[in-house]
Amino acid sequence: MKTGFIQFSPTLGQPETTLGQLDPLLDAAKEADLIVLPELCNSGYHFEDKAMAASLAESTSDSPFIRFLEAKAKAHDQYIVSGFHEKEGALLYNSSVLVGPQGWIGTYRKLHLFWNEKDIFEPGNLGLPVFKLDNGLTLGMLVCFDWMFPEAWRSLALQGAQIVCHPSNLVLPGFAQKAVPIHALINRYFVVTANRIGTEKTLTFTGMSTIANPKGEVVFQAGAEEERVYSTELLTEMADNKWITPRNHALEDRRPDCYSLG
Ligand code: ACM
Repeated sequence: MKTGFIQFSPTLGQPETTLGQLDPLLDAAKEADLIVLPELCNSGYHFEDKAMAASLAESTSDSPFIRFLEAKAKAHDQYIVSGFHEKEGALLYNSSVLVGPQGWIGTYRKLHLFWNEKDIFEPGNLGLPVFKLDNGLTLGMLVCFDWMFPEAWRSLALQGAQIVCHPSNLVLPGFAQKAVPIHALINRYFVVTANRIGTEKTLTFTGMSTIANPKGEVVFQAGAEEERVYSTELLTEMADNKWITPRNHALEDRRPDCYSLG
């Protein structure tokens, strides 16, 4: 399963410019079976205010951005996961969409909003879905600051996710890049964190997009500032083996009767 990410700098408030940037980048990733793009890829991140945010949001059924991804996924016979600035009626969500050769497949809406995102977006209301693809892969999605909440990562493992796609606009210095391989290790699955680069007003994004494997190893990490298209072959079946020792299983040895998770 050739899997990777595109690390780049979407252009705030100029979706057509961003599509122009993405066009050759996605063509450069055409050999990948699955490619992950950063958070809020269709809009940029640091909105002036809610009105600006609302003017840039798209509904899934009427989104030039999703139609563009669908065309690329079909042309390249691949799956694409991307951060998506979504509106449903008057409500805004910081979402991630899964698109395949057959079109839009599903959406996850970020559960854990970061800092001033709380002034703009509704917290996600679609739970933590996993998607079984035609090629046999079981995939979950999380968005950026979700990295901080192990319950979300575990929930995807318990539903059989072999890979977690993690569109991001990370700003805290290297924290998520440290946590992601640990989430991969303790859940014994793959993680692809697609972070962005560049600066929007006071925020500088930290790059270092990361692919981690079920052993907690960093398969690849991009630089902090480079634009990068990367993909590599992943043995996703590795994620089905949850045995740590012949007598220790990452999921079955849990003691939920002793955990009070509130
Ligand atoms: C973040 O959740 N965009 C830091």
